[in-house]
Amino acid sequence: MRHAGIVGVGMYVPPGTLTNRDLERMVDTSDEWIRQRTGIEERHIADPEVGSSDLAVQAAKAALADAGCGTEDLDLILVATTTPDQPFPTTAVMVQKGLEAWRAGAVDVGATCSGFIYGLSLAGALIEAGRMERVLVIGAETLSRLTNWEDRSTCVLFGDGAGAVVVQAVSEGGLRAFELGADGRGTEFLNAWVGGFKRPVTADLLDSPNRFINMTGREVFKFAVRTMEESVRRVADRAWGSLEMDLLVPHQANARIIEAVGQRLGVADKALINIQRYGNTSAASIPIALTEAKASGRLRPGMRVVLTGFGGGFTYAGAALEWV
Ligand code: ACO
Repeated sequence: MRHAGIVGVGMYVPPGTLTNRDLERMVDTSDEWIRQRTGIEERHIADPEVGSSDLAVQAAKAALADAGCGTEDLDLILVATTTPDQPFPTTAVMVQKGLEAWRAGAVDVGATCSGFIYGLSLAGALIEAGRMERVLVIGAETLSRLTNWEDRSTCVLFGDGAGAVVVQAVSEGGLRAFELGADGRGTEFLNAWVGGFKRPVTADLLDSPNRFINMTGREVFKFAVRTMEESVRRVADRAWGSLEMDLLVPHQANARIIEAVGQRLGVADKALINIQRYGNTSAASIPIALTEAKASGRLRPGMRVVLTGFGGGFTYAGAALEWV
C-alpha cells in the first residue's frame, strides 16, 4: 500500500504580542492566575488588516521551503480554520491566490481546533488512494477577532497564528492511523451563535456576546481530558498495538489539560507544551508545535508521534504517524 507522510513543516505568527500584564490592564485578571490555570504567558495578535489567509500564506511558504518543493507541485490546498477571512471565497482560495499555486485545488475544513488533524487525514487518504501527489495542509486562525475582550474567562486564552505541512507519498514511515470524531451534544458548551447565516449580525445583535466565543470552561476541560486520553489509546493501538510513542503533540488549549492527559497515559514526559508563547491558536496549534519540535531537534526521523486534538462542537481527532 502507498503511504503518505509529512515531508515539510512551517509556521508563522504575527509579530505583535499581548502579555498577561497587558491583559491585567484590560480585564480583572492577573498574570499569576493565567499562568497557574492555563500555562499561558503571552499570545500573538494580528494587525487589523491581516486575515487568517495572510498568516497561512507565510506558514505555507515556510513549509514548502522545508519540503524543498514549489507551489507548482501542489495538487490541493486544505485550510483548517474557525476564522475564515470572509463568508466566501474560502480562505483556501485566498491562500492559493497568495501563493500563486494555480494548479492546486483549494478547500476549507471546519472542525474548530480538531481541523488540522481532520485535514491531515483527508490529505493522507487522497494521496494513499493515488488521486493526488502533494497536498498542503494548513491550520490558520485569527481568533482575536472572535474573542470577547470584556470576558476575562475567555479573552486570556486565545492567540493568532498559522502552521502548515506538506504531505506526499513516502517510502518509509508516514501516516499510520487516524480517528475523527464529534459529539454534537457539546454545542452548548463552546460556540459563537451569531455571525453566520442563520443568525447574521444585525444592528440589534451588534453588541451581543453571542458574536464571540462562549465557553463553559469546566465542561470543555472535562471533555478534553477524557476524550483525548481515550482517543490517543485507540489511535496508538491501531497503529502499533501499544502506547509506545516518542512524542505526543496535543492541541494547545491549556497546559493543565495536556499534563492531565499525559499523566493518565503515562507519557507526561513525551507531551509537547508550547502554549506559554502562543495561547490557544485553535487549528494552528498542532502544526505550529510540529514546526517548533522539528526545529529544536525534539522531532527526528523514525520517531513515533501521536497528534490529538479537540474543540468546539465538540469535535476531536487523533493521528499516529512515524516521522519521515
Ligand atoms: N482571571 C481571574 N479569574 C478568573 C479568570 C481570569 N481570567 N477567568 C475566570 N476566573 C475566575 C472565575 O470567575 C471563578 O471565580 P469564582 O470562583 O469566584 O466564581 C474562578 O476564576 C474559577 O473559574 P473556573 O472557570 O472554575 O476556572 P478553571 O480552573 O476551570 O479554569 C479555564 C478556567 C482556564 C477556562 C479552564 O476551565 C479551561 O481551560 N477549560 C478548557 C478551555 C478550552 O480548552 N477551550 C477550548 C476552546 S477551543 C475552540 O474551540 C475555539
